[in-house]
Amino acid sequence: MTEGISLQATGLVSGYSATPIVKGVDLTIPSGRISVIVGANACGKSTLLKTLARLLTPQSGAVLLDGQSIGSLPTKELARSLGLLPQSPIAPEGIVVSDLVGRGRHPHQKLFRSWSPQDDAAVADALEVTGITDLADRSVDELSGGQRQRVWIAMALAQETGVLLLDEPTTFLDVAHQIEVLDLLTDLNRSKGTTIVMVLHDMNLAARYADHIFAMRAGELIASGAPADVMTSELISEVFALDATVIPDPVSGAPMVLPRGRHHVLPAHAV
Ligand SMILES: Nc1ncnc2c1ncn2[C@@H]1O[C@H](COP(=O)(O)OP(=O)(O)OP(=O)(O)O)[C@@H](O)[C@H]1O
Ligand SMILES: [Mg+2]
Repeated sequence: MTEGISLQATGLVSGYSATPIVKGVDLTIPSGRISVIVGANACGKSTLLKTLARLLTPQSGAVLLDGQSIGSLPTKELARSLGLLPQSPIAPEGIVVSDLVGRGRHPHQKLFRSWSPQDDAAVADALEVTGITDLADRSVDELSGGQRQRVWIAMALAQETGVLLLDEPTTFLDVAHQIEVLDLLTDLNRSKGTTIVMVLHDMNLAARYADHIFAMRAGELIASGAPADVMTSELISEVFALDATVIPDPVSGAPMVLPRGRHHVLPAHAV
């Protein structure tokens, strides 16, 4: 059980040049829960996730893992606790699926005994739960976008971290595979207590699968809380400048966002 690793950011400012993209974010990721970050394109979601995973160094502020600044943690130790699936990962040319998934085991390998039966078991398990066991020997280059995305998810799962950050894990997936991946992440959260933080663009899936929503606008957090409390038409308007109606999702009861748009809307008296 890996339950209970805490992840926190205080006064976080980060970006790629002197101009900050993430502009002073304070947040506490709920331990052992599923959090979803929502926000418009280019508002800084991926930049925030990369900074939380130490791929970017903060210009000011800090990221704390169990109260300790991640800047001071040895790389392998950090990678045993926290994994990141980036938005557009790049696979080494010609690599086969099982080898790529196996790279997720790197932080667990000892200096002299490189590959263990536990590593084999973790890779086999990750291939199995993501439904790609039959692709194990295929070259990653030859896969469809959705198949490849599941390979990356398998690699993140094989890392077996207590905290898992995923940047748009449902990209490229058809609707059935989106649900399968989100259900799988929920299983992982419930069975092992893994703290999950993901960026999602589908507001309805975000509202349904999140215990906690963080909403960003222009590099700042503008709302944080349970979907039922924060996913309102006011928030959708603030975050996306989009007029939307929010009703209870008939399947799950979570808020469901119905964007209005300029076409296809019933006359006012009929809505
Ligand atoms: N490597 C980089 N170098 C310079 N600027 C970057 C880099 N990556 C992102 N940016 C800029 O930082 C800003 C925020 O980008 P970021 O990727 O964090 O947005 P996002 O919220 O994840 O958007 P999306 O929903 O499109 O993925 C954008 O203006 C983007 O152009
Ligand atoms: Mg992004």
